[in-house]
Amino acid sequence: MCGIVGAASSRDVTPILIDGLKRLEYRGYDSAGLAVISSEEELDLRRSVGRVVNLEKISGSVSGSIGVAHTRWATHGRPAEHNAHPHTSSSQVAVVHNGIIENHQDLRAIQKEQGFPFSSETDTEVIVHQIDWHMQQGKDLFKAVQSTISELHGAYGLGVVSKQEPGVLIAARSGSPLLIGLGENENFIASDMSALIPVSKRYMVMEDGDIARVTSDSVEIFDASGNPVERKIIVSTLSDDETELEGFAHFMKKEIHEQTRAITETLEGRLGSDSVLELAFGEQAREIFDATKELKIIACGTSYYAASVARYWFEEFGIKCDIEIASEYRYRKHVVNPGTLFLTISQSGETLDTMAALEMAKTLGYSNTLCICNVPESSLVRASDLTIFTHAGREIGVASTKAFTTQLVTLLMVAICLRRRMVGDGRSIDSMETEIVQELRSLPKQIETVLDLEEQIIAMSKHFGTKEHALFLGRGAHFPIAMEGALKLKEISYIHAEAYAAGELKHGPLALIDEDMPVVAVAPNDELLEKLKSNLEEVRARGGKLFVFADVDSGLVTDEETMVINVAPVHSHIAPVLYVVPLQLLAYHVALIKGTDIDKPRNLAKSVTVE
Ligand code: F6R
Repeated sequence: MCGIVGAASSRDVTPILIDGLKRLEYRGYDSAGLAVISSEEELDLRRSVGRVVNLEKISGSVSGSIGVAHTRWATHGRPAEHNAHPHTSSSQVAVVHNGIIENHQDLRAIQKEQGFPFSSETDTEVIVHQIDWHMQQGKDLFKAVQSTISELHGAYGLGVVSKQEPGVLIAARSGSPLLIGLGENENFIASDMSALIPVSKRYMVMEDGDIARVTSDSVEIFDASGNPVERKIIVSTLSDDETELEGFAHFMKKEIHEQTRAITETLEGRLGSDSVLELAFGEQAREIFDATKELKIIACGTSYYAASVARYWFEEFGIKCDIEIASEYRYRKHVVNPGTLFLTISQSGETLDTMAALEMAKTLGYSNTLCICNVPESSLVRASDLTIFTHAGREIGVASTKAFTTQLVTLLMVAICLRRRMVGDGRSIDSMETEIVQELRSLPKQIETVLDLEEQIIAMSKHFGTKEHALFLGRGAHFPIAMEGALKLKEISYIHAEAYAAGELKHGPLALIDEDMPVVAVAPNDELLEKLKSNLEEVRARGGKLFVFADVDSGLVTDEETMVINVAPVHSHIAPVLYVVPLQLLAYHVALIKGTDIDKPRNLAKSVTVE
């Protein structure tokens, strides 16, 4: 999703801006641009469609000590050079913007009457004309931006420069994350601290309504009422180590293979010899778990499927649990029972719908808010009472893999802590907890055995190269795993894939079955196996081709209609974590055959910061 970088320095900022944009590439984008004020005090603007390297190629002659840059993910207006940011007005002011301006049509109508020419279809262009207009009325850049933001409805993170004030960079934020990075004789702005890893370790998070005046040697922040404010300086823990491919062809493949290590780190320090150490989740964890009678879980996409799996665990343990997609939850009325914990799950911690749902939930009387997240310096973390980090390490592939499995592991640990309160005094450990803890300990090794199936999965993937559709089936907690498998396949191979609870087949989707519709199923050896096998027979009887990941003891075998890959026996609670891994590999190898852009699938973004 859109990314912002800006810099005010005593050296040339162009390489800093380009490097920062490259570091934001993982968020997903379709075009990029920069505007730098040259030593002749001219505004040098470069924009291009596609990768940041295209922008780099046309920016060789650009140099100056202040500038802003942007990666755009189209919302208003198609991906095109004229819609890419920065947008300029009268060749005087340049603006980069994340977010959506809801009253852009009204402002556009007024500005057209004022004589401003429009060169894009974006909502952003009204911002730069409005700032220009205020400057034409005699305001300095800071005051012009301040007046402009008071006229905007919607969400924005803004970086603004003007050749009339060549040493000043203005930043403003409402609803879209923006940080100020601090350096020696230079200061920066960015939508995400990872953009600034090589140039700044210390940063301040702007709060909603804040506007900042940034120069190479000063930073002044003012709140929504115009009062000067201090924001806490945070020392970043991000490093470059996790951004190398280390011999893998794609980050997605690397991240699939990292799951053994990632899950080990998720468990690290959180398991005692026979129990989950809930104090390892933070001082407040005990108090928050004690106050919890039931759960409401909100998330989007893959994180929502993690919630969907976890619901089976929570309810098995006697804890009432509702799950919902954030974008739906936000726009409904709610009845909140006393003692309900509001739990958000997000890999990035920046998903706008999830964040907005949390903000709304805080007004509704939930007992507490808990966030399960992978990014320490993220908005959701800052806004939640308690965060449990998944410790997956940075995930760069847009399609989530290790972030998902570590979410599942974290959720199972939370479920165990709450279970203690359902079955006992909340402190004592029973044999079932000890058993599940042993299952969790065995998980990294079990993941290794599934990764060893890759050659067989490559052979299976060859059956999908010419297909346009696929069905995924599962039952119980493996129904959401089937949904996650279908999502992975459609995201990166662009094959249309749908998942069904296998028992639903006969209620409609069976009509789709023919030899061109591959049916993928996950078949662990659980209490639903026999039911699932009957459902698979329904497919076979109609000439369907089955591709099954099945427990070695399931009795399912490869024949003309069915290709079976055997998975070693696994304990029932951790089975969903294990069974998703071959589905990730299958999607990866099908996408490889299709030749798609696996790490950056078309139209998608890693961090979804718009509605
Ligand atoms: C799919 C995927 C997305 C995200 C969704 C929510 O592979 O990654 O569906 O799960 O956009 O993102 P987070 O987890 O960052 O809130």
